[in-house]
Amino acid sequence: MIDDAARVRRIDDAARVRRIDDAARVRRPAWVRSRFGLSLPALLTVLVLGGLCGLCGDAPDASDASVGVGIPAHREVSAGLARTPPMGWNSWNLRGAAVSAVDIRAAADALVATGMRDAGYRYVTIDDGWMFPARDEHGTLIADPGRFPGGIAALARYVHARGLRLGIYESPGRTTCQGRPGSYGHEAHDAVTFAAWGVDYLKYDACSYPGLRPAGTSARAWLVAGFTRMRNALDATGRPIVYSINPSSSGDPAGERAWSWAPSVANLWRVTNDHAPCWATVLPMDYYPGVCTSDSFDPASAWASEGGPGHWNDLDMLAVGLTPSAVNPDVENLASLATGRVSNQLDDIEARTELSVWSMFASALIAGNDLTTMSPATRTMLTNRAVLAIDQDPLGGPASRRGGDSWDGLSVWTRPLAGGDTAVLVVNRGDTRRAADLPGSPLALRANPAGYEIADLWTGRLTRPAGTVPTLSVDLAPHEAALLRLTPVGRTAG
Ligand code: GAL
Repeated sequence: MIDDAARVRRIDDAARVRRIDDAARVRRPAWVRSRFGLSLPALLTVLVLGGLCGLCGDAPDASDASVGVGIPAHREVSAGLARTPPMGWNSWNLRGAAVSAVDIRAAADALVATGMRDAGYRYVTIDDGWMFPARDEHGTLIADPGRFPGGIAALARYVHARGLRLGIYESPGRTTCQGRPGSYGHEAHDAVTFAAWGVDYLKYDACSYPGLRPAGTSARAWLVAGFTRMRNALDATGRPIVYSINPSSSGDPAGERAWSWAPSVANLWRVTNDHAPCWATVLPMDYYPGVCTSDSFDPASAWASEGGPGHWNDLDMLAVGLTPSAVNPDVENLASLATGRVSNQLDDIEARTELSVWSMFASALIAGNDLTTMSPATRTMLTNRAVLAIDQDPLGGPASRRGGDSWDGLSVWTRPLAGGDTAVLVVNRGDTRRAADLPGSPLALRANPAGYEIADLWTGRLTRPAGTVPTLSVDLAPHEAALLRLTPVGRTAG
């Protein structure tokens, strides 16, 4: 464990941090970058904080007034990150707090071998549980030496060498949700540590933080302050680090209103609580929106317009491909609580629907299944490029609900895409098969003299219905979705 901490304190280790040369990432002017991949001010901070963690101090107080004026501009303005929703893999759903370097290396290798990396899944994130229970004598976080014997910097190098990026997990509280050391009062030090290790993505999870709220401060102001503090600390390192926050893990309803402030603070924020492999919640759950797949649709729909390039709604890690034999027991228990069944998983139809909904609402697409053993069907759906292109559409436009809560028993959304195409999502949330003809006008499709070409993104079927505004015919099994891309015939892009 000493090795790992020492690695952070030594600048020569930072020199080994490999930066990924990706055109999509912002190139900072040379004068703010050093050959270590950190800005010069950040390097100085590494030197100072390495030995003087007393300076980390306690986190500053946040009064409502100070928070109100303190929210900085959208992060992408300065960093240009997450122009499209981040895609990748996260360890939580599979390994829980037992995650190890072996798991992360296996996931990285599998992302390459399965073609997922090339389909866009780039971030490999180590979720909660990676830390040793105590910081070192300098206040630096240490990776659990048994499960991460080479430390995090070595893992970052492994991941970077495969054209991938490394994500890590922390909390603004004193402890994470798994009781490991949190970043409260250590934000600047931890941000510098992550940057020196070569971390590219931080998942920052409220956990115990709301319990620290001083009297006289509103819950909202306290959340904004805590999440903004780390965001500023990340910015100060000079390393582009995608910032993914989960204000709702505290079970605090104020966290559920994150969309009113989170777009100014983070690149993505959770709009649901934890998600598990089940279709629909049937038992009463106390304050638990989004646990099963179909529970997520309404929160996703309500906040769709808050997303856009650089700042995205996050519907949580995908349950696609999670099986009862390969799932973190915490996640399995959650599904059981929601459904009353012991063993839960999405079938392939439901899994395709989940991917369709996450893509339609431009959520982060973070797989969590065992990539080394997944079925060909799971792999094929996770790498369906036509579907992923909806998620990754550069316009980042919002999906809008059509026809009210139920249109012929179906849920329907449309979304404008770059170049003038339109995505249409039709979901049969019910338990019986449904067929319907959906006229184009209520879908708010504009008349096009030569009509529309319609691509069914799951079957690959192309059709060209008659008329300037097409009627969409769907025939859907229970829980099935049709994800369609409508291209106006003869209209040039833009
Ligand atoms: C939850 C979070 C999960 C996972 C877990 C780890 O709050 O929603 O995604 O990160 O904490 O303890």
